[in-house]
Amino acid sequence: MTALSLRGIRKSFGAVEVIKGIDLDIDSGEFVVFVGPSGCGKSTLLRIISGLEQATSGDTVFDEEVVNDHTPFERGVAMVFQSYALYPHMTVAENLGFPLKLAKADPQEIAAKVKAAADILQLGPLLDRKPDQLSGGQKQRVAMGRTIVRSPRIFLFDEPLSNLDADLRIEMRLEIEKLHKRLDATMIYVTHDQVEAMTLADRIVVLRDGSVEQMGPPLDLYENPVNTFVASFLGSPRINFLNVELLDSDASSCKLLLADGSHVTAPFSAGTASVGEKMKLGVRPEDLSASGGDFSIPFRMEIHERLGPTSYLYGRSGADSIVAEYRERGAVTPATLTTLGVNSAHAHLFDANGLSVRNRQERVS
Ligand SMILES: Nc1ncnc2c1ncn2[C@@H]1O[C@H](COP(=O)(O)OP(=O)(O)OP(=O)(O)O)[C@@H](O)[C@H]1O
Ligand SMILES: [Mg+2]
Repeated sequence: MTALSLRGIRKSFGAVEVIKGIDLDIDSGEFVVFVGPSGCGKSTLLRIISGLEQATSGDTVFDEEVVNDHTPFERGVAMVFQSYALYPHMTVAENLGFPLKLAKADPQEIAAKVKAAADILQLGPLLDRKPDQLSGGQKQRVAMGRTIVRSPRIFLFDEPLSNLDADLRIEMRLEIEKLHKRLDATMIYVTHDQVEAMTLADRIVVLRDGSVEQMGPPLDLYENPVNTFVASFLGSPRINFLNVELLDSDASSCKLLLADGSHVTAPFSAGTASVGEKMKLGVRPEDLSASGGDFSIPFRMEIHERLGPTSYLYGRSGADSIVAEYRERGAVTPATLTTLGVNSAHAHLFDANGLSVRNRQERVS
């Protein structure tokens, strides 16, 4: 398997720079997921790695070898896109074997590799069918199979599951997880789906406007986002932001003025933020509760959505929209709630620029 490094990658289309200097080291066998809003450069970066697109400057390095001038074929990468792009007139077996046939491989070798890929992806019973006789998930499995037969050095996936319905997405997600374990392959995967990102990734790279905002293991990013952008990108429903003003802070606590004029004392430091600074208190829905918590915020409920084991309470704290996850099945009637408790161990304070105070503190110290 192959390690990948990107060194100072930039890409402009005409006068517009869409990739603004990306440095990234991906270990051999690592599963890395790119996430970020539409247009931030995920597909462009993947195409640069694949060799389908030339970077304007910077180096793409496979196992210490600079491959800037190598074609996708020479790089030995395989890509799976959102659309399956199977050949309609070929059977599944012919589709699977086609890349090898193109490479003029020996027919026996082709047959053996097609069989091996079909076994891995459970395509055996479908080998004689044409693509129009397959379901969406089966088609996508054939598209993946076609990459496996080539034994690529790196697998690149660009939103491969976004055309599938919800159940199939889950099935295919598990399939990709198994494939990664089984092949121990280096994989880079672009998705809009944060569940896919959280579950598949060894490391997530959050991109914004052509630059890396933060990268790290999924739970690290979830628990320690460097800024409000990353905090709101991971987690569904999204993290809540309360507009607050810093009244006072010491090494272990801070006093915050809430939008409704009340104030709370939170058991964490506001770091280097100054008194009077307008800040945001970030609290994820699961860290709000009907009772308990380290301090309370006012809450006015508007909608109660019941999903079975959990509910979501939508409402307001002052002018700020709030969603809270509610697990106390059948306990308190949420309509009577006027406050929510905050689990401060997982709360985040962001400064006027949206930077996490914890992160800012680390950078200063
Ligand atoms: N061939 C091209 N010519 C000019 N501009 C392009 C070209 N390809 C992409 N872009 C621009 O580059 C930016 C990044 O595009 P890219 O396709 O990489 O985004 P993305 O993150 O994959 O978005 P999405 O999530 O919508 O797929 C966009 O602003 C896009 O319009
Ligand atoms: Mg894209």
